Amino acid sequence: MEFTIKSGSPEKQRSACVVVGVFDNRKPSLSAELIDRASGGYISEIIRRGDMEGKLGSTLLLHNVRGTLADRVLLVGLGKERDFREREFRTAMRSAVHLLNETGSYEAVIYLTEEKVKRREVAWRVEHAVVVAMEAVYRFDEMKSQPAEVRRPLRKLTLSVPQRSDLTAGEAAAARGLAMAHGMNLTRDLGNLPGNVCTPTYLAERAQALAKELGFTCQVLDRPQLEELKMGSFLSVTAGSDQPPKFIVLEYSGAGKKQKPMVLVGKGITFDTGGISLKPGQDMDHMKYDMCGAASVIGTFRAVAELKAKINLVGLIAACENMPSGRATKPGDIVRSMSGQTIEVLNTDAEGRLILCDALTYAERFEPAAVVDIATLTGAMVVALGHIACGVFSNNEGLARALVAAGEEAFDRAWQMPLWEDYHDSLSSNFADFANIGNRAAGSVTAACFLSKFTKKYDWAHLDIAGIAWKEGKEKGATGRPVPLLATWLLAQETAG
Ligand code: BES
Ligand code: MN
Ligand code: ZN
Repeated sequence: MEFTIKSGSPEKQRSACVVVGVFDNRKPSLSAELIDRASGGYISEIIRRGDMEGKLGSTLLLHNVRGTLADRVLLVGLGKERDFREREFRTAMRSAVHLLNETGSYEAVIYLTEEKVKRREVAWRVEHAVVVAMEAVYRFDEMKSQPAEVRRPLRKLTLSVPQRSDLTAGEAAAARGLAMAHGMNLTRDLGNLPGNVCTPTYLAERAQALAKELGFTCQVLDRPQLEELKMGSFLSVTAGSDQPPKFIVLEYSGAGKKQKPMVLVGKGITFDTGGISLKPGQDMDHMKYDMCGAASVIGTFRAVAELKAKINLVGLIAACENMPSGRATKPGDIVRSMSGQTIEVLNTDAEGRLILCDALTYAERFEPAAVVDIATLTGAMVVALGHIACGVFSNNEGLARALVAAGEEAFDRAWQMPLWEDYHDSLSSNFADFANIGNRAAGSVTAACFLSKFTKKYDWAHLDIAGIAWKEGKEKGATGRPVPLLATWLLAQETAG
């Protein structure tokens, strides 16, 4: 979809549809009032009749409104004016785009971006309008033999800004939003692909193709190199699989050589059966999403490289399957990680941390400014925060705060979790340096504690995205989160550095 920014009166737009807001209770926004005046009170008449009360997300499509140059006028409920915040703005925007996509309009001019959102500038509104619109029209039908054709897909949205002086900021914000949306779409596509297509090899090929397209480097390490590196922990997870493991190294240089890179590390389990500690059959198909951390790293590279951000960024992806077989790692097996520390694998289903720990050790060679790993690591994270926020664990308070703040700005929220020493005891082992699981309590915290044993040499944060990477039920599918959080955090480094 294409986006343009414009400033002008709604009644003067020659368009298939002009979209204006109405507040609850029956209060037209400024742009709705302009249409009302031009149409000789038509909008207020409709409002008076009770067909549009302004309830958040409600819609009413009008045709041939006199006094206007557009074919249609779409009224969108904005909810109570004093409660109109980030979530409400995004909800209204989402309803509008969903409805537009069902009408015969190829394009539309949207005035919702003129409505004030507390604490947010016009650039925020434009960026989020673009991201939400792209999210709303996303479809995944690559695997259908007959994709359901959208009759007249929405091709172009014009976003209105209050003043001509807002045009430059608006255009930059639209470009940011579009790059993020492209990143999210890629992350969603990779996540939605089934495990028999999206194998470690496939992930590596897609990463390589993207690197070529956008001009950064991608190196793929195979089993012999992983053995050479002594990644015994990573290799223990892939032992039961017939698919070869891949370790993907992405490097994007947008800043001077002297500037230390940020490093993103992604969990790329392309299918998690649990291994010998086999998972129950119910919902096991969800475990094709166990590479969403890796997919979010690739999606973030897409966004950052498209924007030519002035930062240096490294992406590390440990990709393999977790399968049972005669060669698979068994409960009680002891493996030696790349760091030299030994691990007693008490549960082969706690495999994410086993592949991440070697990737985190590999990260040291980049002398990183900061390392952030992203992983669908624990079911306990879903219990703790549900599907709203991901968990942030960090050995550096400033880094944790910056990530939470980026999540808030991107409306891709994160919540800090503790990493206190007190939690570490449960990982103790009588036979190895430590075990790969704790007791049942605080499962997402003990998983993060495990990772922290490999991140002593740099500032590090861990995002447990088990609850936010995909949706279940009717809207089943990958979300593209936390690409907005990561991209926002990285772009903030650009202005700071
Ligand atoms: N990939 C799963 C975590 C997961 C489970 C994410 C369900 C989303 C939904 C991970 O590899 C795993 O199996 N974790 C175990 C750890 C346990 C064995 C300590 C879990 O959370 O049950
Ligand atoms: Mn598992
Ligand atoms: Zn897993």
